[in-house]
Amino acid sequence: MHHFDYRNGVLHAEDVALTEIAEAVGTPFYAYSTATLERHYTVFRDSLAEVNGSVCFAVKANSNQAVLRTLGALGCGADVVSVGEMQVAIRAGIPASRIIYSGVGKTADDLEQALEAGVHQINVESAPELELLNAVASARGVRAPVALRVNPDVGAGGHEKITTGNKETKFGIEWTAAHAIYKRAVSLPGIDVKGIAIHIGSQIASLKPFEAAFLRVRDLVAILRADGIQISRLDLGGGLGVPYEDGNDIPPPPPEYAAIVKRTLGDLGCAITCEPGRLIVGNAGVLVSEVIYVKEGSTRTFAVVDAAMNDLMRPAMYDAFHGIVPVAQPEAGAEQIAYDVVGPVCETSDIFAKQRRLPVLAAGDLIAFRTAGAYGASMSNQYNTRPLIPEVLVKGDRFAVIRRRPTLDEMLALEQTPDWMA
Ligand code: LLP
Repeated sequence: MHHFDYRNGVLHAEDVALTEIAEAVGTPFYAYSTATLERHYTVFRDSLAEVNGSVCFAVKANSNQAVLRTLGALGCGADVVSVGEMQVAIRAGIPASRIIYSGVGKTADDLEQALEAGVHQINVESAPELELLNAVASARGVRAPVALRVNPDVGAGGHEKITTGNKETKFGIEWTAAHAIYKRAVSLPGIDVKGIAIHIGSQIASLKPFEAAFLRVRDLVAILRADGIQISRLDLGGGLGVPYEDGNDIPPPPPEYAAIVKRTLGDLGCAITCEPGRLIVGNAGVLVSEVIYVKEGSTRTFAVVDAAMNDLMRPAMYDAFHGIVPVAQPEAGAEQIAYDVVGPVCETSDIFAKQRRLPVLAAGDLIAFRTAGAYGASMSNQYNTRPLIPEVLVKGDRFAVIRRRPTLDEMLALEQTPDWMA
């Protein structure tokens, strides 16, 4: 459930008309709904209550500090994959004791900083990383709280490029090697083995792969415990999908997911953590854009809009579907035309939708891309020297710019002209 609905003929975010935000900040922009963020977090958290589960939001899905602060204030933790994400989460008020540090390529400096901050857990993804962390922790005279991220060889996800749980991907420690690496881990003075971590993919619309992976985790707990290795925490990753209005499978609701967690892992006496990203923020955000031109081609009609692939990469990168709706509510039964909705960037892949049937559009119309709160702003960039676009947070009848559009000087601030050109 989200809070983006038509009222008085205009699409609103909670009680604010998107037209009002457009006037204030210009297009394109992202708008997020506080009530939706809070609802998604609390529904997921409450679903996990029966297994005493905790939630660490995957910051990569949306790293805006105001979004993190909203979630952190409700008790949410953070799953981070860089020192940058870790520091942003801490600045947003999420204590290190609720932060899990993940990622396949942590450097010695990353590990130092994670230990310095005192994160709850470091998810180690390979044998060499384990050795490096042991060295870094030992040099500091501490023991690092560690889960090994194992790769359960269960592939899942809405697209090949967001599948992580099969053994052909770079993620995690191969299933068959896990036992030996756990044995090594418990022998290391700088490592305090706490648990097992997995993450099998993203935009998963079925419970089956989760269940298969959780059962493998269950087996591994038994194997490790039989060997005297204490396992007290399980980190199940993220991955539960959200509806993108594309007619594909509707993902199961959080209580059904939680029931699988309970059935497969609930009796092991482990503290359970999940790391959802998309589930929390996906439907809590829209990208609003203005139609610049309607261009008639001989085979199709293009709606050229002012947002582009640099603002929302998902369609170009994963052929992802985002629902598109006009901000001005169309009349019931209004005529529809098939459009290719494209951005201004000089790439053929700068296309948001092909042959999408939409109410008749004209230059100056505002449209909203739905389900754009996850992996939208956080994956955006300045390609074509286009400024990053504003992010706006709505709460009831109020809204605030939570990231403004940079000036050209700010965009170029890190560049320098070599002195031989002066
Ligand atoms: N935990 C780990 C270790 C992850 O790598 C990820 C996402 C998550 C949690 C959160 O997964 P979620 O609940 O959001 O599915 N950019 C792609 C998605 C990439 C996901 C990467 N890892 C997209 O726009 O679809």
